[in-house]
Amino acid sequence: MSRPLLQLALDYTELPPALSDALLLRDSVDIIEAGTLLCLTEGLEAVRQLRKLCPHKIIVADWKVADAGETLAKQAFDAGANWMTVICAAPLATVEKAHQVAMERGGEIQIELFGNWTFDDARAWHKAGIRQAIYHRGRDAQASGQTWGEADLARMKTLSDIGLELSITGGITPQDLPLFRDIKVKAFIAGRALSGAANPQHVAQDFQTQIRDIWGA
Ligand code: 5RP
Ligand code: MG
Repeated sequence: MSRPLLQLALDYTELPPALSDALLLRDSVDIIEAGTLLCLTEGLEAVRQLRKLCPHKIIVADWKVADAGETLAKQAFDAGANWMTVICAAPLATVEKAHQVAMERGGEIQIELFGNWTFDDARAWHKAGIRQAIYHRGRDAQASGQTWGEADLARMKTLSDIGLELSITGGITPQDLPLFRDIKVKAFIAGRALSGAANPQHVAQDFQTQIRDIWGA
């Protein structure tokens, strides 16, 4: 099983602290995400500035697109994103349009699994050419007490069997990682665990150490 990557999610509502975290952590993580909150507040400039600051990193535009897949994908990829997220509730036509643009620009679409979706949906995304999905425990679900469980792990395994590479997110901390030791994980996406830490670099190292200990070098 290949080593999962570490993704920093920047969910600030203004650009300066996001850029300062990106600068601080860019050498400790593999992927930098222009978070939904940041992009809703700062727009395309968030993606442009992160691309400028981290020229060699994978940059994700976490826009959770629900419609206008072609237009938004052009905006995201032309601003410097490598990957863009589309919400699982989007019509298949939106997924297909966004995926077409991603292919033309050497990028990828990730489907955000929030709320209601089915394995038939997952098969349809895979058939349309999608290769990545994000298994997500929402902030609000987490705050209302939702924890990771066997049902999540079983769903993750089925999604892997369908052919989707999975990133996992939603209040993830280094201590959570052993739970996912039998799952083929593309990336762990961490926002608050890194940005809210007294020493973000130290926490990033904890993530990387856990990843190495569980999945090997
Ligand atoms: C919320 C998101 C966040 O970026 C993702 O959940 C990571 O942040 P955190 O680790 O703070 O949950 O996309 O919708
Ligand atoms: Mg995000």
